[in-house]
Amino acid sequence: MKIKSIKGVKDILPGEIEKWQWVESVAGWMFSRYGFKEIRLPIFEYTDLFKRSIGDTTDIVEKEMYTFKDKGGEEITLRPEGTASVVRSYIEHKMHGQNQLTKLYYLGPMFRYERPQAGRFRQFYQIGVEAMGSSSPAIDAEVMIMLIEFFKTLGLNDLELQINSLGCKDCRPQYRETLKSAIKPHLKELCSNCNQRYERNPLRVLDCKVECCSEIAKGLPKFKDHLCSQCEQDFAQVQEFLDAVNTSYSVNDQIVRGLDYYNKTTFEVISKTGLGSQNAVCGGGRYDSLVEDFNGPPTPCFGFALGLERLISLLPEEKLQNLEQRPDIYLVCLGEEAQQLSFSVTHQLRTAGFCVEREIEGGSMKSQMRKANKLESRFALIIGENEIKNNKYVLKNMKDGEQSEISADTLTQEVYDHYKRWSDAQLKESGQK
Ligand code: HAM
Repeated sequence: MKIKSIKGVKDILPGEIEKWQWVESVAGWMFSRYGFKEIRLPIFEYTDLFKRSIGDTTDIVEKEMYTFKDKGGEEITLRPEGTASVVRSYIEHKMHGQNQLTKLYYLGPMFRYERPQAGRFRQFYQIGVEAMGSSSPAIDAEVMIMLIEFFKTLGLNDLELQINSLGCKDCRPQYRETLKSAIKPHLKELCSNCNQRYERNPLRVLDCKVECCSEIAKGLPKFKDHLCSQCEQDFAQVQEFLDAVNTSYSVNDQIVRGLDYYNKTTFEVISKTGLGSQNAVCGGGRYDSLVEDFNGPPTPCFGFALGLERLISLLPEEKLQNLEQRPDIYLVCLGEEAQQLSFSVTHQLRTAGFCVEREIEGGSMKSQMRKANKLESRFALIIGENEIKNNKYVLKNMKDGEQSEISADTLTQEVYDHYKRWSDAQLKESGQK
């Protein structure tokens, strides 16, 4: 049997990985400016954690989890999302004792057994953020603003932030009943999934993607007209904070989210142009009782997770140039002695911090220069018999062809000086200096 990768998962190869590394480094830089610290979490947890947090009747728990018994007979699940693990870790390590507000971010693979299609995978990557320990609407707004600033830094300026409020344990039961009464006369027209949702989770009828269901959903009562006064006030404040820094958004009362732990502010970030039917780049919201549900102290939380495959597919071309690692120096060695010497010269320059490549098998000057060009090396360092005899090497700037003799005794310093001149010229050219 020919061995190949499993349906719905993919390799991320060199050439593509540079985009991922760039996005991940911008995320780390941006989120740390807002006080978030990275947390690394296990990829598998006890199944119960996900059942109890995401909700028994959600699609994720009912149909999509990779669950198995390990050799000790424990029920284990590959994590379908990160929030549940963060909450578990927060309680287990008593993080609530350390700070009033705990701000964490994580990134890594998630697993859902969904039908693979463009933008939907069975192993996919998320970057997630959780702010734990405050119920202030300022936190909701600040975290969403950070997200939008992150997108802007990546050159993604036309994503849409859509927000909604899902109320709280005081106003939701009543809205649920109001909604059920309004849905009831339409049951025959709704899809079979919505008929099941009607009893178990009627709010999910609001975000069904089946066309006739979404048409009916538009006419159903809106949660925003049934919020209690506290939820109404909090939702208004979130919008005031977003307005205060000119972060644009729209209210979409059909956002329900596919996980059960949310209350109050929920949101999604949508691409109207680049993603087809899987158009949500990011989703999140407030989950004020999840920590308590796992016997932790009262800890209101707000967070989000974004899908890296979807985000990366949207990155504008001009931001992706020059991401690929290029050698600073390509060693061109002619003759056996030079070839032998290249081993220690390469080591010397690499330990000084340069990215250095060479042709292990040697070859003609022409073929080695061709390789240096192909790899887009910034310089070629040429070492031949004469150079060894004179204790001087030739450094060639691959862009303008200028060649300089440099002494073998001061090699590192001289290469550094040339490199500095080259990088200053680059900055000047790009208008940064
Ligand atoms: P979620 O909406 O289930 O939320 O997932 C967040 C993002 O992950 C989605 O907007 C999408 O970009 C990406 N995503 C989800 N499923 C797939 C898939 N099968 N293939 C590719 N990308 C996918 C959560 O996971 C919550 N934990 C977010 C959160 C954090 N809420 C509060 N804190």
